[in-house]
Amino acid sequence: MKHLLSAQDLTLDETILILDTAAQMAATQSREIKKLPTLRGRTVVNLFFEDSTRTRISFETAAKRLSADVINFSAKGSSVSKGESLKDTALTLHAMGADAVVVRHWASGAPHQLAHSGWLGSVDNPVAVLNAGDGTHEHPTQALLDAFTIRRHLVGRAGGATGDGVGRDLKGLKVAIVGDVLHSRVARSNVHLLRTLGAEVTLVSPPTLLPVGVETWPCATSYDLDETLARWQPDAVMMLRVQRERMSGGAGAFFPSTLEYARRYGLDQRRLAMLPAHTVVMHPGPMNRGLEISAEAADSTRSVIVEQVANGVAVRMAALYLLLAGGSSAEGSSI
Ligand code: CP
Repeated sequence: MKHLLSAQDLTLDETILILDTAAQMAATQSREIKKLPTLRGRTVVNLFFEDSTRTRISFETAAKRLSADVINFSAKGSSVSKGESLKDTALTLHAMGADAVVVRHWASGAPHQLAHSGWLGSVDNPVAVLNAGDGTHEHPTQALLDAFTIRRHLVGRAGGATGDGVGRDLKGLKVAIVGDVLHSRVARSNVHLLRTLGAEVTLVSPPTLLPVGVETWPCATSYDLDETLARWQPDAVMMLRVQRERMSGGAGAFFPSTLEYARRYGLDQRRLAMLPAHTVVMHPGPMNRGLEISAEAADSTRSVIVEQVANGVAVRMAALYLLLAGGSSAEGSSI
């Protein structure tokens, strides 16, 4: 395993391997001493060109729990503001001995460019690159932690007493992904990963917030949230953030008002009541409370939003471990 760039690249076996490894990592995190010696002497660089709370802290925690040295690089306050290129930043990181680079970038494709340019070591022996979210393209570790969370809750104990659904896929489960699909790398990664795992996916969105070509994605689409919740009865409802910072002309170019958006596409108490008792409510964060999700829904007993954050550490520990220390099953390929 060399890189983790895209959920679309992952096979079913690779996905199950990451989720099962994450289950093992999660088990170590309830111990008094949470730190493992696995990546002692290795250096992980967090290279963030865009704002982040969860992903950056989660990758840092994961690397430290595996005893790696961690360098945090934020474009703000670095020589990027003086015009330094991605290539020169990469060459600098390589010169400093990075073993893995976790990259978040506003440009779709930046992690792929880093992984395959030769700027971070030779093409045959590159530094591992992990995509922490690139533009509107992909956010593979978010999709992995979402799948891990769904599996833990809805697949559960088959094959053992761990409650993690170890070894299992998500066949038979229905997931509604609701909101600003157009700007969402989380939605794109989730559609592909959930389909790989055998789940059915419906995207629910205003027509203006569905991307051109969505009909080629392996999922259904709907403009009607009430109908999807009431008739389709999803097992998980994943709410997406309205990404106003990516909307040129402001949100007004995509929907008439925030009030109307919340009324038609927001998850609130009334809509929660339409769902089966076992259905979980998810959100990748950060949330716009009162817009795509009400405070009552975000804080309800069905919400697994805080758990998603905790599971992110285990999933990222698994990804770092498989890329830097393990990973015989997909040697030479990207995971
Ligand atoms: N879910 C997610 O990517 O959150 P951050 O932007 O805070 O990292």
